Amino acid sequence: MTSFRPAPAWLADAVFYQIYPQSFADSDGDGIGDFNGITERLDHLAWLGINTVWLNPCFVSPFRDAGYDVSDYLNVAPRYGSNDDLAKLVDEAGRRGIRVLLDLVAGHTSDEHPWFKAAANDPADDRYVWAPEGHPDGFVPSPGTRPGAYLPNFFAFQPALNFGYARENPAEPWRRPVDAEGPRANRAALREIMDHWLGLGLSGFRVDMAASLVKDDAGTTETAKIWTELRHWMDGAHPDAVLLSEWGEPEVSVPAGFHADFFLQFGGPTDGLALRSLWSNGEGTVDENWDQLDCFFDPSGKGSPRPFVEAWHRASTALGHSGFISLPSANHDFSRLNCGPRTADQLPAAFAFQLTWPTLPAIYYGDEIGMRYVPDLPEKEGSVLGPRYNRAGSRTPMQWDDSANAGFSTAPPDRLYLPLAPSPNRPTVAAQLADDTSLLHLVRRLLALRTSSPELGPGGSVEVLHAGYPFVYVRGGRYLVVVNPRRDAVSYGYDGARDARVLAASGIRVDGDGTITAHGFAYGIFDLRRGGGQ
Ligand code: GLC
Repeated sequence: MTSFRPAPAWLADAVFYQIYPQSFADSDGDGIGDFNGITERLDHLAWLGINTVWLNPCFVSPFRDAGYDVSDYLNVAPRYGSNDDLAKLVDEAGRRGIRVLLDLVAGHTSDEHPWFKAAANDPADDRYVWAPEGHPDGFVPSPGTRPGAYLPNFFAFQPALNFGYARENPAEPWRRPVDAEGPRANRAALREIMDHWLGLGLSGFRVDMAASLVKDDAGTTETAKIWTELRHWMDGAHPDAVLLSEWGEPEVSVPAGFHADFFLQFGGPTDGLALRSLWSNGEGTVDENWDQLDCFFDPSGKGSPRPFVEAWHRASTALGHSGFISLPSANHDFSRLNCGPRTADQLPAAFAFQLTWPTLPAIYYGDEIGMRYVPDLPEKEGSVLGPRYNRAGSRTPMQWDDSANAGFSTAPPDRLYLPLAPSPNRPTVAAQLADDTSLLHLVRRLLALRTSSPELGPGGSVEVLHAGYPFVYVRGGRYLVVVNPRRDAVSYGYDGARDARVLAASGIRVDGDGTITAHGFAYGIFDLRRGGGQ
């Protein structure tokens, strides 16, 4: 196995916060979020206990896939501000102990990228995957003077960068070897892009569709080699930076070179199921091809934490100390926690679990106040992927206050990135800040507890006492966690709970004989050391 430099020490303590820049904070009133808006909110993030921010793509783009269609990797989209505004954001974040990660769209560009425009008019160019004539299945007809067709990576307007094919076939001349000129140029370009931003003080990248580079790559062996090479380079040139993958199979991506990978709504057959088995209740963003199962965080109480625990156990055993797994509350492609039958009163238990499990937590902006997934929004910048897969519902503007456009200044409605439907009980940051019983305050307390208790971090042990309702586990031999995501009360007997000290709890009672009664949607975190001393 290739040995990498150990991940920078800060990563073990990372609490990720994902910011969708178009929807987070609008400083100039044009209805679209921007860098200065984010900078103005850094104090809030620091107050909450966030130390690492991941920004979705913020580069020049025609925005047909919300910025995942990059047409210039080295300059930011003017709608978010200038390169200097981003530099200021990174600097101000650093002063508050917050690192900033960008999104690296490695597998494709926009069809408006100059590289693609050149390729579409030059039959000798192999930066993209080009069939010289006709258009084979899955290819898109050439838009330029060059005949033939190109291979897209996602939407048709996102041509796949050519990293070669793992297998060649003379009948399919577009299957270029991984060391052909175009693939080599693309690998060099990735390194240059990374070097550029890391040199400016960014702390790393979340890599989009990281498994997609080399085509027809059984076992992703050749794709893995590209990341291994880049990681070795980063270990020398930027040892304090990290690479997180959108891959969804940590046991494959981390050995390839990533410092961490996410459990995702899709992903390997078992890992994808792991996240959905926690959160996906069949509403919000749903892919018709997903196996539908009863998720654990559901009032019906038909789910189980087992699929998650088993996938986590398998992945973390494979990883050892070589890297991390990140557990997101949601993301820009997947339903928010507050969705369908899962309502605001059920969210504290979900956070009590997410923030005490030995993974790196990733909080999706707005989940910390319980923003709701908004169904049936019109398609916006590529949000709709399928009949039941509308991503716009998770991309609505951050609800800073209860003005009609929630802090998105006074822009006319047609300029708003996404329409807002004001509703009477909409959670807002302002209201929750003023109420110390709110979800926002709970998330802050849980993060503070996690940060001050190394046993609760990814390095602390976990012993699962009961993988059901309630879910009961002990972290670092010291902290007992009980969560009951179902509506009905349930009890569990654990002798050790008798003298435990309550650190955070709602709806939980411990009797003198050690019986723990967890009411519907209850959670509890206890210190098993009598009195909580050392
Ligand atoms: C990733 C992104 C998603 C985007 C796609 C194509 O899955 O998370 O938002 O549409 O890649 O870049």
